[in-house]
Amino acid sequence: MTDRVISSEVSNFDEPFEQSLRPQLLSQYIGQDKIKNNLEIFIKAAKMRSESLDHCLLYGPPGLGKTTLAAVIANEMNVQIRMTSGPAIERPGDLAAIVSSLEPGDVLFIDEIHRLNRSIEEVLYPAMEDFCLDIVVGKGPSARSVRLDLPPFTLIGATTRAGALSAPLRDRFGVLLRLDFYDEEALTSIVVRSAELFNASIDYESAGEIARRARGTPRIANRLLKRVRDYAQVRGNGHISLDIAREALELLQVDPRGLDHIDHKLITAMIERFRGGPVGLDTIAASIGEESTTIEDVYEPYLMQIGFIQRSPRGRIVSSLAYEHLGLPLPIERDNL
Ligand SMILES: Nc1ncnc2c1ncn2[C@@H]1O[C@H](COP(=O)(O)OP(=O)(O)OP(=O)(O)O)[C@@H](O)[C@H]1O
Ligand SMILES: [Mg+2]
Repeated sequence: MTDRVISSEVSNFDEPFEQSLRPQLLSQYIGQDKIKNNLEIFIKAAKMRSESLDHCLLYGPPGLGKTTLAAVIANEMNVQIRMTSGPAIERPGDLAAIVSSLEPGDVLFIDEIHRLNRSIEEVLYPAMEDFCLDIVVGKGPSARSVRLDLPPFTLIGATTRAGALSAPLRDRFGVLLRLDFYDEEALTSIVVRSAELFNASIDYESAGEIARRARGTPRIANRLLKRVRDYAQVRGNGHISLDIAREALELLQVDPRGLDHIDHKLITAMIERFRGGPVGLDTIAASIGEESTTIEDVYEPYLMQIGFIQRSPRGRIVSSLAYEHLGLPLPIERDNL
């Protein structure tokens, strides 16, 4: 799955250049207007009161800009950001060490916060609510609890699975922000901006072509751009024209809606073996030899977003849009979907 050029998850190949493409300020952060408008107000208000920003939870599918947004928030607040992740904090002492090293107002970013250990969550609650830590010192009968004051700080949590977060933890975030897939216009602007940073020459139509195939996801848009740029250099004169972009994307086997062979395999299996559904997730998974959670978290969200697959109480259904896209005739008894 990691060799999919349209995987929304980060790969080793992405990391060095993703860093260089990250917007630093809200004004450079493209799309997600609702979130930006809200944040702008919260940030201004917190600054006017000289207070730390409320704790924020960012959630949404991979590659939509959660980590980027956390860094932007810290920049806009003019504070430092400390980055860690749920699985990296193994013991309460790890968390204590991090939070007690923060300066007033700093941002503590915890990625994959749904994977935080429950015993660490317990330590986090008073830290979030009252900016203090209750630490047990000593062992056995002489053990006692000591309360340690912390500077006020902002916790920013990020997760792809908000549903997996415990309710008490979720309730302690003052601001919940859900990132959505980007529309074509926003993604086109992201491609144009990244091309500028890469020093790649591209026209607007070609940027749009890449954007349409990027599954609403900036990470994928940037990755496709990088591949198309290579193609333009080797097969053309370096300029990314519409023809060059289409040829390169064809070669990468990303179709005009951003679907690749795995999506095709998934949809075709549902059509050929289960008459387009309804069919249960586990049954689909078994029939194409994939994990159901992979289908649910990685393949399906985008296919649902563009209306190719629908969820029903009796299972997944392939919609008429998908039949049309694949050039397949609708089964007679289901032409109403
Ligand atoms: N709004 C945006 N404007 C411009 N570029 C963006 C935007 N959002 C994301 N990007 C680009 O997409 C890449 C991926 O974003 P980021 O790493 O923040 O995603 P993420 O949501 O944290 O993903 P994950 O769930 O895998 O951690 C970044 O390198 C960044 O350059
Ligand atoms: Mg991230």
